[in-house]
Amino acid sequence: MQENLQVQLAHTPEGNPEPEHFQVVPTPMPQPDDGQVLCATQYLSLDPYMRSQMAGRHMSGTVSSGELMRGETISKVIESKHPDFAVGDIVRCFGNWQQYSVHKASELSKQSPKISPMSYGLSLLGMPGLTAYAGLIWIAKPKANDVVLIPAATGAVGSTAGQLAKLHGCRVIGIAGSDEKCAHAINNLGYDACINRKTEDLAERLNELCPDGVDIYFDLVGGETLNTVCNKLALNARVILCGLMEDYNKPTRTPGPMPGPIIGARATLTGLVVYDWEPRRDEFITDCLSHIGSGKLTMQEDIAHGINNAPAAFCRLMNGENRGKALVKIASE
Ligand SMILES: NC(=O)c1ccc[n+]([C@@H]2O[C@H](COP(=O)([O-])OP(=O)(O)OC[C@H]3O[C@@H](n4cnc5c(N)ncnc54)[C@H](OP(=O)(O)O)[C@@H]3O)[C@@H](O)[C@H]2O)c1
Repeated sequence: MQENLQVQLAHTPEGNPEPEHFQVVPTPMPQPDDGQVLCATQYLSLDPYMRSQMAGRHMSGTVSSGELMRGETISKVIESKHPDFAVGDIVRCFGNWQQYSVHKASELSKQSPKISPMSYGLSLLGMPGLTAYAGLIWIAKPKANDVVLIPAATGAVGSTAGQLAKLHGCRVIGIAGSDEKCAHAINNLGYDACINRKTEDLAERLNELCPDGVDIYFDLVGGETLNTVCNKLALNARVILCGLMEDYNKPTRTPGPMPGPIIGARATLTGLVVYDWEPRRDEFITDCLSHIGSGKLTMQEDIAHGINNAPAAFCRLMNGENRGKALVKIASE
C-alpha cells in the first residue's frame, strides 16, 4: 500500500536546529471523506517562524516532540470529494511537512495560473512577498530618496522589500552575512550598498553610508542590529518590527533599544504580522505581477529536493546559509 512520508519533530532544540532534531516517518496514505480533498504536496515552504513554533513561542501555536511539522504548501488535487475542486487543481494550503494531505474545501485557496513558476505562490507572490509589501508599501510608505535599510537583504522578505524600495526611488542599503550575498544584493537586486554583518562594523558603516540617518528600517533580525540602528534614525523615521533572526535560536531575547534616540528622531515603530494583511493579498499580487512582467522584481529560490531533505534545508535557513526563499520540492509537477 502507498505510504505518506512525513517529517515530525523528534526533539526540541535548545540552540541551532540540527537534522537529528527531526524524524522522517512513514504513515498510512490519508483518505478523503465526503466533502474533502486529497492533495499531493508540490512545494513546501520553510520559514523562520517554525523555529518559534518548535520553541513554543509563536502566536500560531506549538509543535511538540512527536508532532508533524507544520507549513504552507503548494499542492495538487489528486482526489476530490468536493464539487469546487477537480483533480489537477493547484492549491495553496497548510499541507505540512509531508507528501500527501487531506483538507476541507475551506482550507484550500486555488492558485491562479498567472503565478508562474508555481513556487512563487510561497515566495515572491506568497507570504514573504506579502510581508515585504505590507511593511514597506502600506506601513512605511516610502518616498523618493528615503534611505531604506534592510537586514537579511538577500532573503525572501528582505530581497522583495529591497527591490520594491528601489522601484519607489529610495536609496537602499542592505545588511547580509557574506561578501557573496552582498555582491548579489548590489549586482542582481539593485541595492546601492550592502554591509557584511560578519566582517564590518555596522555603526561605522552607517555613519559613512548615510550620515543623515535611516528613514526606513525594515527589521527582520532584532537583536543588537536593532539596537545599533535605533541610534542612527533620521527625523520621522519608520521602523517596521517584523522578525527576530538574531534571537530565534537563543533561549532568551536580546534586550531592546533605548528610547532616547527614538524620541529624538520622532520615529514610529510598528509591529507587523502578515496575517493581518491577508485581505489585501490580491491587490499585492496584481501590483507585483506587473513588476515581474517588466523584469524589475524577481526572487532567488533555494530549493531542496525530497521530503527527506527538508530537515537539513530548514537547518541551513536557521544558520543563515540559504540563498533566497527556502523551499522543498516534494513531487514532480
Ligand atoms: N512578522 C511577520 O508576519 C513575518 C512574516 C514573514 C517573515 N517574518 C520574519 O522575517 C524574517 C525573514 O524571513 P525570511 O523568510 O525572509 O528568511 P530569509 O531572510 O530568507 O532567511 C533568514 C536570513 O536571516 C539572516 N540572518 C541574520 N542574522 C542571522 C542569525 N543570527 N542567524 C541566522 N540567520 C541570520 C540570514 O541572512 P544573512 O546571513 O545574509 O544575514 C538568513 O539567510 C524572519 O525574522 C521572519 O521570522 C515575519
